[in-house]
Amino acid sequence: MSDDIILEAVNVKKHFGTGGGWLSKTPVVQAVDGVSLRIRRGETFAIVGESGCGKSTLARVLMRLLTPTEGEVLFDGREISGAQGAALKQLRGEMQFIFQDPFASLNPRMTVGNLVGEPLEVHAPGMTAQERRDRVAELLRKVGLRPEHAGRYPHEFSGGQRQRIGIARALASDPKLIIGDEPVSALDVSVQAQVINLLGDLSRDLGLTLVVIAHDLGVIRHMSDRVAVMYLGRVVETGTAADVFARPRHPYTQALLASIPATGTTDHTATMIGEMPSPSDPPSGCRFHTRCPHAQETCRSQTPVLAETGHPDHSVACHFWQTLADTVPPPAPPERSDAAEARFALYRAATEGGTVTHLNEAGKPAEQT
Ligand SMILES: Nc1ncnc2c1ncn2[C@@H]1O[C@H](COP(=O)(O)OP(=O)(O)OP(=O)(O)O)[C@@H](O)[C@H]1O
Ligand code: SF4
Ligand SMILES: [Mg+2]
Repeated sequence: MSDDIILEAVNVKKHFGTGGGWLSKTPVVQAVDGVSLRIRRGETFAIVGESGCGKSTLARVLMRLLTPTEGEVLFDGREISGAQGAALKQLRGEMQFIFQDPFASLNPRMTVGNLVGEPLEVHAPGMTAQERRDRVAELLRKVGLRPEHAGRYPHEFSGGQRQRIGIARALASDPKLIIGDEPVSALDVSVQAQVINLLGDLSRDLGLTLVVIAHDLGVIRHMSDRVAVMYLGRVVETGTAADVFARPRHPYTQALLASIPATGTTDHTATMIGEMPSPSDPPSGCRFHTRCPHAQETCRSQTPVLAETGHPDHSVACHFWQTLADTVPPPAPPERSDAAEARFALYRAATEGGTVTHLNEAGKPAEQT
């Protein structure tokens, strides 16, 4: 594992329902089935795919919240999939999680000061009470809140502010890597860009590595350096975000990109045939063959492996990607509605100008008051 790789998954599988013995009637769910990934220090790495494709399960295995059925997870050069005791405690400080739902993930009976300060008690037990208060104040400032917010309770805050509290809590142990599982999808569109902007600033200023799980391709496009596209427990395409968005090579990625409709939300059914099959009975060969418009006989029997496309870092798992690249035109940029247009303007403002903006009533970006 080279120095610039902070997190690596090697052929990771997570199957649920394997413990029932041979008489068990419960089908085994192949939630993650042979994923290999290498995440570089300081980058923002995105994992995308439809609901149920295994994104959260993979994230939990990477975090050592779940034990893989097979495979290895290496964090900073150490194998962590079996970490216990002191090794696990150290890992919990170095890797943190931001949850999807800022309303459910903060204990409503704890003050913000205690919520943000709690990880310090575990990971910096030598701190005095005053040092802890100072550190909490510093963390609150870092996420755009005020030190006096420490005495308030989560219900006194908006969704976006609560997610900031969650981020401050995640930063408390001074982690090297943060995994966000749909970190903005529960928030109003008007505050999503603020939180994305904050995460970008933090990762740059603190040298943090971010792993972001999202089904919203708009979010991915604007915040990630590299991306992995998952389908039914496997990675089907991976590369720099710029390359994958400009030159998607897997028919599934092409369909995902083509299905960003004018409403700005992702509707995969528009361009793909039928529903995603069950991970407890995945199709043979290429798992996408039941929905792929280009499927041929080989696809039903032979499993494609991730192969390099020739562009740096860009790999794809499709038997026919080269033929398809010559025949299938690149996807036209999707038409956007006013709301989606306003959102993209917001992302641009967040990325280029660095100002914190929100949508006004007309759906246009406006300065935050
Ligand atoms: N503890 C569990 N026991 C059995 N099956 C599970 C368990 N956790 C997840 N699964 C199944 O594994 C598959 C992958 O689920 P997962 O939550 O990882 O998907 P996801 O990509 O995060 O979906 P979403 O976008 O909806 O959050 C699903 O079929 C899910 O029902
Ligand atoms: S291997 Fe076949 S079924 Fe799978 S994505 Fe490629 S063309 Fe489609
Ligand atoms: Mg999930």
